[in-house]
Amino acid sequence: MRREKMFVVMLIALCLGVSVTVAGSGSAAGGAEQSGFSGFDSLDEAVVSENWKRFFPNQYAGWMATGEMRETTFGGGGKAEAMTLEIQKINYLELYPFLKVTYDGFPFSKGYYRSRGHIYALTDVIDTERLPDWDSRPASCLGCKSTDVVKLQAVHGDNWFQKSFAEVVGKNTIGCADCHSPADASLRHARDWLDEGIAHGTFANINPEGRTDLVCAQCHTNYHFHAETRKIVLPWTTGLTVEAQLEHYDAARRSDEWIHPQTGALIAKIQHPEYELYHEGQEVNIHSRLGLQCTDCHMPKATTANGEKYTEHQWTSPLTHVEKTCMGCHSDWSPEITRVNAEAVQGRIYHRQNRIGWDLADFIQDVARARSNGIDEATLGRLQQIHREAQFYWDFIWVENSNGFHNWDEAARVLDKAEALVEEGMQILRSL
Ligand code: HEC
Ligand code: HEC
Ligand code: HEC
Ligand code: HEC
Repeated sequence: MRREKMFVVMLIALCLGVSVTVAGSGSAAGGAEQSGFSGFDSLDEAVVSENWKRFFPNQYAGWMATGEMRETTFGGGGKAEAMTLEIQKINYLELYPFLKVTYDGFPFSKGYYRSRGHIYALTDVIDTERLPDWDSRPASCLGCKSTDVVKLQAVHGDNWFQKSFAEVVGKNTIGCADCHSPADASLRHARDWLDEGIAHGTFANINPEGRTDLVCAQCHTNYHFHAETRKIVLPWTTGLTVEAQLEHYDAARRSDEWIHPQTGALIAKIQHPEYELYHEGQEVNIHSRLGLQCTDCHMPKATTANGEKYTEHQWTSPLTHVEKTCMGCHSDWSPEITRVNAEAVQGRIYHRQNRIGWDLADFIQDVARARSNGIDEATLGRLQQIHREAQFYWDFIWVENSNGFHNWDEAARVLDKAEALVEEGMQILRSL
């Protein structure tokens, strides 16, 4: 009975999937015609999102509304009831003290807050304890925080990556010009490091060409800086799974790798691999398999009071709008049950990723003790290798922003590997 019902859902979803995977540039350009928009005269104008407001008030209103924060059980960006920015920011180092051990020796142990809406992206990279002052901070840090990047790239080509943050920082956060052409408002991505990543041809589960959600893959992926040019590099040379990315880091010393002061291991810092976890992995999530894109859940279609159709631009937790996003397929669930089921999936990952975080921190401190008591080179070498790999697997899931929702089977599989490695390391320490 349940199986039969599921089959029907799958069929409906597959149809939906076919229609949603078609690239969306046409419809955005169509919206432009009706609005009287005929392109901007200069990039200076186009990078200011306020300038798009009079042509596209609904999309602009959504973009502004990313400043609102509604907390969900595991996500949602911040505390809505709090009055000052300081309180709204959720301090990860206080909430999860094991991070100070796992990231010891790396800037994330100095300042690390929960991510929040696009409107805050520029403020949050300006105001961080994590990065050095503006003169020694690389310009590349602006890469995923500002529409100004579109202009920097047009004027300086790849040379802007070698400048300092002070030379490039402006006033514009993530906005319209990051995803839409200033000429006709059609949808397009503006960061060529994404094209360079795709050119490796290593996607296994989806064909990235022409997808609507490539606009999200501009920023919601793991990355590091190129050793010489400081350009942003997507570590996809051999694949997008966690194992393939580890292979990429093993091939050469990368930026965002550091020697951990306690164990002496070479550790790589993973950054928000939403695109990779959702679409790729040894386990493929049902939602990606059905053809759902990032935009289907995070940018549902909406209608104004006078019947105008548009796409919602308030990027936030889909659990704040399950009626618009999930219920079309999950019609046998109520909105409340949909949230409960999603949180059940997340809860399993959330608790494990934190427990493994604590275990990893214990392991790191025990290795440090063993090191100061004296330990043979071969055993230390094995313990350092275990630390490198266990932290890579654990961090890949910990820093991914959905707490496992995007691909719960893959998240569990990767955490299994981290857990087994930490256990192996603990056994070696016990046998000393
Ligand atoms: C992170 C990427 C992103 C940003 C930033 C963004 N958009 Fe969009 N926009 C999209 C996507 C995705 C669609 C839907 C395209 C589709 O379904 O074909 C869209 C659709 C549109 C459309 C077509 C009509 C509609 O609503 O479907 C317009 C017009 C538009 N956006 C204007 C804007 C304006 C104005 C801004 C800035 C205030 C903006 N967008 C910022 C991604 C973005
Ligand atoms: C099937 C629906 C679905 C798809 C498709 C999807 N997401 Fe999500 N996403 C969710 C849910 C549900 C959450 C968890 C929100 C929460 O915990 O409140 C989430 C969380 C997030 C978060 C953290 C938001 C927060 O409020 O904590 C980000 C960022 C994100 N997704 C980006 C993406 C990107 C990028 C893609 C495409 C690679 C994507 N999502 C695809 C449903 C989806
Ligand atoms: C230009 C880079 C960029 C692009 C393009 C982009 N994002 Fe983001 N996104 C960010 C950054 C940076 C943050 C965190 C901002 C902060 O914490 O200050 C963020 C935050 C978010 C959040 C809120 C996270 C939270 O915890 O509340 C969601 C949801 C999200 N993005 C979804 C998307 C989706 C879906 C797309 C594609 C349609 C997209 N983003 C495109 C850079 C980008
Ligand atoms: C295109 C149709 C479609 C959409 C849209 C969709 N889902 Fe699903 N979802 C499915 C199918 C099919 C399955 C697999 C069958 C099942 O387990 O119910 C599934 C599975 C799930 C599961 C796992 C159930 C379990 O315990 O195995 C959860 C939780 C879930 N979806 C939540 C959501 C949420 C939350 C959203 C909106 C953000 C959403 N889905 C959007 C089709 C969809």
